[in-house]
Amino acid sequence: MSAPLLSARGISKRFAGVRALDNVSADFFQGEVVAVMGENGAGKSTLMKCLAGVHQPDSGTLTWQGKDLRITSTRRAEQLGIAFIHQELNLCDNLDVASNVFLGRELKKAGCFLDAAAMRARTAALLERIGLRIPTNTPVSSLSIGQRQLVEIARALSLDARMVIMDEPTSSLTAGETATLFSVVRDLRTAGICVVFISHRIPEITAIADRVIVLKDGRFTGTLTKSELAPDRIVSLMVGRDLPPPEPRPLRQPGPVRLEVSNLRTAAFPARQLSFSLRAGEITGAAGLVGAGRTEAARAIFGIDRPIAGTISIDGNPLTHGNPRLAIRAGLALVPEDRKEQGLILDMAIRDNLSLPRLRHFAPSGFISDAAINRSAEDLSASLSIRSTGIHKLVGELSGGNQQKVALGRWLALSPGIIILDEPTRGVDVGAKREIYSLIESLAASGTAVLVISSDLEEILRLSDRILVLHEGHLAGTLTRQEASEASVMQLATGSSPRRPAA
Ligand SMILES: Nc1ncnc2c1ncn2[C@@H]1O[C@H](COP(=O)(O)OP(=O)(O)OP(=O)(O)O)[C@@H](O)[C@H]1O
Ligand SMILES: [Mg+2]
Repeated sequence: MSAPLLSARGISKRFAGVRALDNVSADFFQGEVVAVMGENGAGKSTLMKCLAGVHQPDSGTLTWQGKDLRITSTRRAEQLGIAFIHQELNLCDNLDVASNVFLGRELKKAGCFLDAAAMRARTAALLERIGLRIPTNTPVSSLSIGQRQLVEIARALSLDARMVIMDEPTSSLTAGETATLFSVVRDLRTAGICVVFISHRIPEITAIADRVIVLKDGRFTGTLTKSELAPDRIVSLMVGRDLPPPEPRPLRQPGPVRLEVSNLRTAAFPARQLSFSLRAGEITGAAGLVGAGRTEAARAIFGIDRPIAGTISIDGNPLTHGNPRLAIRAGLALVPEDRKEQGLILDMAIRDNLSLPRLRHFAPSGFISDAAINRSAEDLSASLSIRSTGIHKLVGELSGGNQQKVALGRWLALSPGIIILDEPTRGVDVGAKREIYSLIESLAASGTAVLVISSDLEEILRLSDRILVLHEGHLAGTLTRQEASEASVMQLATGSSPRRPAA
């Protein structure tokens, strides 16, 4: 192989009390797709941030096309031709799509005037390329997370980069959007660009990567070439041992109906009606493509958005629309898909984030017991396998996947009567996913009615007793556990087989 485009040698990076990267070396070549894998907190994002000028390594060297250099800022990285798509999306909500694509690099005419027409035209071409069918003047605030992710990708493509780093680009994309992204990635590879790709989804990695680099606890643990890409080998490099086979799925007997939704209409799909119910002790899955209306329905049920019409009843009592407080009082909990909306307080400790919704529980006599809060936070963070230096670590300093676990833990600890989980394992590694599944299962076993919204088909099939498949705002069909398969769900989700329409 020719000389590497970018070479990292002995990179180390510490944050207060944490060795995020410990002497990591890796090479990146032109025209290859390199996947970076590792558990939550392994150091993947930190390594990428060192390559993209976001962080300065404490020690080690970077060589770009044979020359040693320091990448002192993100601007410097962009000038070299390194585009970085952040795990935590980095768009300006108050600007439109075209302005975000060209943010900081606005096209000008006559040297000083913004050339809005040119930026719109180039943005339109980029959106076309990635299959995102929205006008270029759409405000970013009105986009779904999946769409925002695609806008970030358009921005990276607009840089004409030599190296494109994508930190978990697919975590909020559906199968269709992922397929489009992969064809873009293949085009980039053919054009001689190096694509670095982070994902927790092994099937994606085996489909797209030429090579995998694995990190564990900040150290490089190995590299696998295309012919060596067996899932077991990846997992054992990631986890440091073989993962035991998954436990058999427990049998569940659903109880009475807890939540009943009838003829719900939301602003996203005003002409469509949605009806379904959730039963105690049952896990219901909501499958569908991104944009099928699942998140909108969840938000309307919980009261964040006011539905246009319909009734929502809990235990037979109709719920007032548009009032989350009443919904919570009636026993409903919602874990939203957007981490920024999950109410995590980034500059507070894990312990406080976990106990905040339950403070009353810790203060039976009016005094809050610090020891009880600590004990409960220790237990929860162990059962969620939150990787950190301890429960006093600030949530904002955790890796993406570990923040997700804290967000989930807050609600799980409340043992709500009815819980809606929107994309509960986005960005969570394989081992921790299993732990989250068993937590969700124990909630159901204790009688909670659970709705899991997920674009991860494997997850839906693994967890659900019953699967609701949504397509463009309506229920395209319901599948029992026996009827459910990847094919039957996808058929309904894409609207290609209208079986068993909603009652
Ligand atoms: N700004 C920061 N301040 C303090 N600690 C940090 C900071 N950024 C990262 N860390 C720590 O560095 C370690 C590596 O984090 P990193 O975000 O690189 O993990 P990751 O492999 O990308 O994980 P994930 O799969 O969850 O995204 C973690 O222990 C994390 O808590
Ligand atoms: Mg990360």
